[in-house]
Amino acid sequence: MGVRLRLPQKTSPRSPSYLLLCLLALSFFSFTALLLYKVDDFIAQTKLSPDITWNQHRGTSSRVNLSAKPRDALRLTGSSNALTSLVLTNLLSNQRVSCRNPPGRVVKPGKPNAQTFSGKENAAFRVVILSGKLYVDLYYACVQSRMMFTVWGILQLLNKYPGMVPDVDMMFDCMDKPIINRTEPHKSFPAPLFRYCTNEAHLDIPFPDWSFWGWSETNLRPWDEEFGDIKQGSKRSSWGSKQPRAYWKGNPDVVSPIRIELMKCNHSRLWGAQIMRQNWAEEAKGGFEQSKLSNQCNHRYKIYAEGYAWSVSLKYIMSCGSMTLIISPEYEDFFSRGLLPKENYWPVSPTDLCRSIKFAVDWGNANPSDAEAIGKRGQGYMESISMNRVYDYMFHLITEYAKLQKFKPEKPYSAKEVCEGSLLCFAEQKERDLLEKSRVAPSMDRPCTLPGEDRNILERLIQQKKKTIEDVRNMEMTRTERGSR
Ligand SMILES: *[C@@H]1O[C@H](CO)[C@@H](O)[C@H](O)[C@H]1NC(C)=O
Ligand SMILES: *[C@@H]1O[C@H](CO)[C@@H](O)[C@H](O)[C@H]1NC(C)=O
Ligand SMILES: *[C@@H]1O[C@H](CO)[C@@H](O)[C@H](O)[C@H]1NC(C)=O
Repeated sequence: MGVRLRLPQKTSPRSPSYLLLCLLALSFFSFTALLLYKVDDFIAQTKLSPDITWNQHRGTSSRVNLSAKPRDALRLTGSSNALTSLVLTNLLSNQRVSCRNPPGRVVKPGKPNAQTFSGKENAAFRVVILSGKLYVDLYYACVQSRMMFTVWGILQLLNKYPGMVPDVDMMFDCMDKPIINRTEPHKSFPAPLFRYCTNEAHLDIPFPDWSFWGWSETNLRPWDEEFGDIKQGSKRSSWGSKQPRAYWKGNPDVVSPIRIELMKCNHSRLWGAQIMRQNWAEEAKGGFEQSKLSNQCNHRYKIYAEGYAWSVSLKYIMSCGSMTLIISPEYEDFFSRGLLPKENYWPVSPTDLCRSIKFAVDWGNANPSDAEAIGKRGQGYMESISMNRVYDYMFHLITEYAKLQKFKPEKPYSAKEVCEGSLLCFAEQKERDLLEKSRVAPSMDRPCTLPGEDRNILERLIQQKKKTIEDVRNMEMTRTERGSR
C-alpha cells in the first residue's frame, strides 16, 4: 500500500488552501513563526486521506525501547551529535581518499546508552529500515513537500548502496528549529531526533535537507544540477568585472531579526552593499526567471543571512565563487560546520552589521587576489559536497547510529512500506519531475571510507575557527578606532 506523503490536494487551484500554499511558498529559504501558525491551521483544515490518518499518533504513545540504562541516557544523544561532527570532519579530511578504497576502521562513538523514549512529542515521522526496505510511520504532516523529498532521499540511498544500509529506527522532525535542549534535565528522556539543522545548545542530529533532491515550491532542482549551473554562471564574468559590492537577495519577512537588520545596510556608497527583496508571489507568476541562481553571481561578495533558523540558501550562495560574507550563524546544517573563516568564507559580525560588511568589502577590494581565492575555495567546498558525498554522509551517519541501537528494529504496527512507486504516485507533476531527476542507480563504488576517529582534529578546527573570527573582529575594531581619531 502506498503511503500518502504529502497533503492531499483535491481542491481547485483558486481555493483558499491553494492560496495558503502560495503563502507558504513565499517563505523561501526558511520558515516563519507567523506561517507556522497558518500551517497548524492548514493541517487542521486538511481532509485526511483514508489511506493514512495524519494525526493518528499524536497523543498516542508510540514507545521505542532503545535499550536499558536510564542514567546514561544523555550520552546517547550527546555522542550521536558528536558523531555527526566526526562523520563530517572525517569525510572532509578524507576528501582526497579514493572512494574505491576498501572500508577502513570506522568511527567508534561512545558506549551505546539509552533508554525507553516516547517519540510522539517531537517527531513528525519515523523511519525504519529493515533488510533494505523502508517503512514510514507518520505522526503529523510536514510543510510543503519536505517529507516527500526527505523520504525519497532515503529511498535513493537504499538504491545506491543495496544491501549495505543496516537495519535502523530513526525519528525525524521537519520544522526549522532544533528542540532537544542540551542542558535541560530530561525527565522523560526525548528521542534522539533527526532534523535539518542543529547547534551547540541542542542535541538534534543534522540530516541533509529536502532541497538536495529539489524544492518544487521554489523551482529549485536537485543539488548537483543547480550547482553545475551556478558554477557555469559564475564564469560569465571575471573577478575584475564583477561588481565590487556585497549582494543579498531574499525574503526578509521570515521572522529573522538579522534579515531585518540587513535591510538597513542597503547603500552602495555608505556600506558597499546591495540588498534586494525577493517577492516569491511575483517570481512564481513570472516563471522564476528573475530568481535564477545562475544569474546571481555578478558580485564579488555575497551575503548569507539566516532565516527563521538555518537557510538552505547557503549552498547556492557559496557556489558562486564570490567571497561569501557569512553573518555569524546561530544554526548549523550538516555541512556548514565544516566551513572555515578566511579560508572559504568571511565572517561578519551580527552586532555591528553594516560596518562589518563594509569592512569585509573594503578588505576584499584592497586584497583582490586573496578575496578571489577565498571565494574559489568556498565554491570548491560546495563542489566537494556532491550528491555522492551527501549519500556517503547519510550512509555513515545511519550506520554509526544503528550501532548505537541496542535492540533489533522492528516494523511499528502502523508503519507502511514506502517504495518509489507509492511515493511517485502521490507526487504532482512538478514534484514527480524533480524526483525522477534525482533518482540514482546502484553504485559501482563503495561509500568513501571513514578514517580513524580523531576528536583532536575536531577540537582544533573549532578552536581555530573561534580564533580567526576574533582576529577579524579585532581588525575591524582597530580600523574603527583609527577612523574615529
Ligand atoms: C527494553 O530493553 C531492555 C534491554 O534490552 C529489556 O530488558 C526491556 O524488557 C525492554 N523493555 C520493553 C518495554 O520492551
Ligand atoms: C535550555 O534549558 C535551559 C534550562 O532550562 C535554559 O536555561 C536554556 O535557555 C535552554 N536553552 C535553549 C536554547 O532553549
Ligand atoms: C536597495 O536599494 C536599491 C537601489 O537604491 C533598490 O532598488 C532596492 O529596492 C533597495 N532594497 C530594499 C530591500 O529596499
